[in-house]
Amino acid sequence: MAKAKKAASRWVCRACEAIVGGWYGRCPTCEAWGSIEEETAAGPPERVVLGSNPSAAPRVIASTTAQTEVDQAPRRPCGLAEVDRVLGGGLVPGSVVLLGGPPGIGKSTLLLQASAGLARRSGVVLYASGEESVAQVAGRAGRLGAAHPNLLLLADTRVEAIIAAANERAGGLAALFVDSVQTIYAADAEGLPGNITQIRTVIAQLISFAKQHSVPVVVVGHVTKDGQLAGPRLLEHLVDAVLSFEGDDDHATRLLRATKNRFGSTQELGVFEMRGNGLREIANPSEAFLAERQQGAVGSCITASMEGSRPLLLEVQALLASSFGNPRRTCVGVDPSRVAMLLAVLDRHGGQCVLDQDVFINVVGGVRLSEPASDLAVLLAIASSHQRKALPAGLVALAEVGLTGELRQVPRAEARVVEAGRLGFSKVLIAPGPKGASKLPRPQGLEIVYASTISEALNRVFF
Ligand code: TYD
Ligand code: MG
Repeated sequence: MAKAKKAASRWVCRACEAIVGGWYGRCPTCEAWGSIEEETAAGPPERVVLGSNPSAAPRVIASTTAQTEVDQAPRRPCGLAEVDRVLGGGLVPGSVVLLGGPPGIGKSTLLLQASAGLARRSGVVLYASGEESVAQVAGRAGRLGAAHPNLLLLADTRVEAIIAAANERAGGLAALFVDSVQTIYAADAEGLPGNITQIRTVIAQLISFAKQHSVPVVVVGHVTKDGQLAGPRLLEHLVDAVLSFEGDDDHATRLLRATKNRFGSTQELGVFEMRGNGLREIANPSEAFLAERQQGAVGSCITASMEGSRPLLLEVQALLASSFGNPRRTCVGVDPSRVAMLLAVLDRHGGQCVLDQDVFINVVGGVRLSEPASDLAVLLAIASSHQRKALPAGLVALAEVGLTGELRQVPRAEARVVEAGRLGFSKVLIAPGPKGASKLPRPQGLEIVYASTISEALNRVFF
């Protein structure tokens, strides 16, 4: 009897979405451990109306109405400039944003501060928490100075109750915030909160609410140990934007990036600092990251990395030490295989025997350098440590290093040079651009030094 009632189900891997025959401890497709979950089939989905036009007829892009619908989608800025920039100008009504991050990083704090800003500017915000009681959230809101008459708190784990509360105010609701998708459950789906079926159903209901009433919805999602959003990968496809909030336990710096954004760029970076009274925006991150730098330190080099539209000056540190046995490479903030390549190039084309050394690299401030533009800075930091000589004071290095030891110019060099000048650096070491390329700006007091190979660069800085 019980069997006949049970809805059709299948076994799905949470990591790779493969459908398997039954429960396995390890996914036969992607070999992830403990990722197989039972998923029960839900009924046919409701039709979701995307945008304000309920007609299903196709329309020509050039038709003005279709265009203006998108262009004029009003943004609702939440007042935290760092968040608004990452979102592409603010929350778009009817969009669903997933905010992911490891436990304790400050997701709830960010959400609460954003909801207070939104409540001040745009109207009623409903903050639904499935993790904390109203008293807890209210207490924190009081401490953060985020309490506002337009900010309504609800502690409930039933998605139906949250949507009902939102529906009551749907006309005047500026946004619905839900903390977190893993703790909310839908009565008509099977299993415990946080399992695949539950997460899918909850998110589907929230999306349907957002699109129906043109209310932006922001949902917090937990991430697993390896940094993936917990729950089905499908979650990321369903929502309009995925923001990830990162940082490490040893630093107060927190970074907000968009890994997916249907309404803006995914290149922008928001920088915050976690303080006793909440998250503080860092409008000038280069200054903050360089604040504790020691002038004239051996094994340190500054580079300018583009994070979205913004150049960020960062310090790369390197330490070389005699190795016993197999040399170790320990890299924080840079790709170890890139470092291995730079070591080989330095050895072959820079005439420095570094391959038998233990190498430690660190990018200060917990930021990751992902651009080849920072190659030269990593290489010079290594050379500086190897030679036990500091690089010239006030130097910024900007170039991609090739396998033949050549240096290449970096994209958006102007913006980086201007940022170096603004922060009082005196020398930028850069590769000459192709002939006829526009001249780089030369802020006052800043000298631009060109080098086209790494041996030229080493000669310029060490002799
Ligand atoms: P929280 O927002 O609860 O993290 P998450 O929702 O991502 O799990 O914040 C977690 C940590 O932030 C907590 O350990 C304490 C710290 N914190 C501060 O340092 N200052 C503050 O003002 C607040 C509210 C939290
Ligand atoms: Mg939380």
